[in-house]
Amino acid sequence: RQQWRVAVLPGDGIGPEVMAQTERVLSALADREGLDLTATRFGWPSHAWHQQHGEIAPADYLQTLAGFDAILLGALGDPGPTSNPDRYLLSDADSLAPLLDIRKHFDQWACERPCRPLPGAPCYLADARAADIDMLVIRENSEGEYVGQGGRLAPGTEREIVTQTGVFTRRGTARIIRHAFEQARLRAEQRRRDSRARHFDGCESQVCLVTKRNALKFWGEMYTEVFAEVSADYPDVATHHELVDAACMKFVTRPWDFDVVVASNLHGDILTDLAAVLNGGMGVAPSCNLNPADRHCPPMFEPTHGSAPDIAGQDIAGPTAMLLTAAMMLDWMGEEDPAARRAAGRLRTVVSADLAAHGGDDRGTTAVGEAVLARLRDEPAGA
Ligand code: IPM
Ligand code: MN
Repeated sequence: RQQWRVAVLPGDGIGPEVMAQTERVLSALADREGLDLTATRFGWPSHAWHQQHGEIAPADYLQTLAGFDAILLGALGDPGPTSNPDRYLLSDADSLAPLLDIRKHFDQWACERPCRPLPGAPCYLADARAADIDMLVIRENSEGEYVGQGGRLAPGTEREIVTQTGVFTRRGTARIIRHAFEQARLRAEQRRRDSRARHFDGCESQVCLVTKRNALKFWGEMYTEVFAEVSADYPDVATHHELVDAACMKFVTRPWDFDVVVASNLHGDILTDLAAVLNGGMGVAPSCNLNPADRHCPPMFEPTHGSAPDIAGQDIAGPTAMLLTAAMMLDWMGEEDPAARRAAGRLRTVVSADLAAHGGDDRGTTAVGEAVLARLRDEPAGA
C-alpha cells in the first residue's frame, strides 16, 4: 500500500486538543514527504456524541472503521458532571466508550508500549543510568483478565460472591510470546545498525516474561511452558522471568536492565503506566494496538494517557505523546511505504528536538503544536 486512509477519532477530554495539533503536523509532514495519507475525522465514539445522539457511536461504527487502514485515537472516557463511575466503563455491550470493543473487533492482540526516555523529558529517577532505559513492553491485548467472564451472586447482600475469571489460551499465549521474540530480534538488528549493541547473557537482546506463577498456578504454568517452547526457536535471544511484583520494583530500581518485556493484559496494563513514567510521564508515552499476523486488521494507535478530564478544555495538555503515537503509526506504514518511513523519522527528529529544547515546560497544547510545525518547516527535507 502507498495510499493510507486513517480514521481519526479524537474522543473525549484532552483527546480532541492533542489530536488537533497532531492532525496539523501529520498533514504538513505528508506534504513534505510525498506521503499519500487521508485523515477522516469522526466525532464518535465520545460523550459529546452520546449527548447529542443518545449513543456513544453509530450502531455500525465498527463497519465504518473496517474501511480504513489504521485508526488514530486521542482518548476515551469522561466522568461527566456527576462523576458517574459508569462513564469510565470502557468495555461490554453497555459501554459508553468502546475502546476495548475496538481492540477486540479488529483482533488487535498485541499492544506495544515502548519505553525510551527522550532527552528533555521529565525524569523521575535520580540514577544517571535512567538515560539508558530502552525497553519495549508488549502487552497481551485480547484475553486474560480482560475477557469479562464472571458475575455477581447475590449482589449487594452480605452473602455476595463475585467471580472475575481470567481466560488464557495456548494460542493467545504463544502468539504474543512469539511476537515478543520477533521484536527482540528486530531491536537487536536495529541496535547493531546504530552501533549501540547491548548484551544479555551472551545475546544481543532479551525477552523477560512476567507472570505471577508463584500464586496463580495454572496460568503461570502454561505461560512458562509456552515461553520455553517458543524461546527454543530463538537461541540468539536471552530469556528472563520476573514475577509481576518484583518486575514493578525493578522497573523502578534498574529499568535499564530490561529489553523486551511480555506480560498478560492486566499485568501489561499496570506495568505500562509505570513504564510511561519512565518515559517521562503520560504526556510523552506512545502506544499501539495491532494484529501482527494480519496487516489488514486496522491497527489502532493511541497514547497511553487517558482523557484527563481535569485538565481538558484549557489548552494545557502536552501533545507529545499523541505526536509520538502518530510516529508509531508512520513506522507501521513505513514497513510498506518509504515515504511513511521518512515521515516517521522526521517526526521523531522534530518532536525530540522540541522536547530537548523545552523539556517539561508548560507551553500549552497549541504552542507545542506550533513549535513542532515551525521545526518541521526549518528541517531540511528529503533525508
Ligand atoms: C489502557 C487503558 C485501558 C486498559 C482502559 C481505559 C480500559 O488503561 O489503554 O492502558 O486498561 O486497557
Ligand atoms: Mn492502562
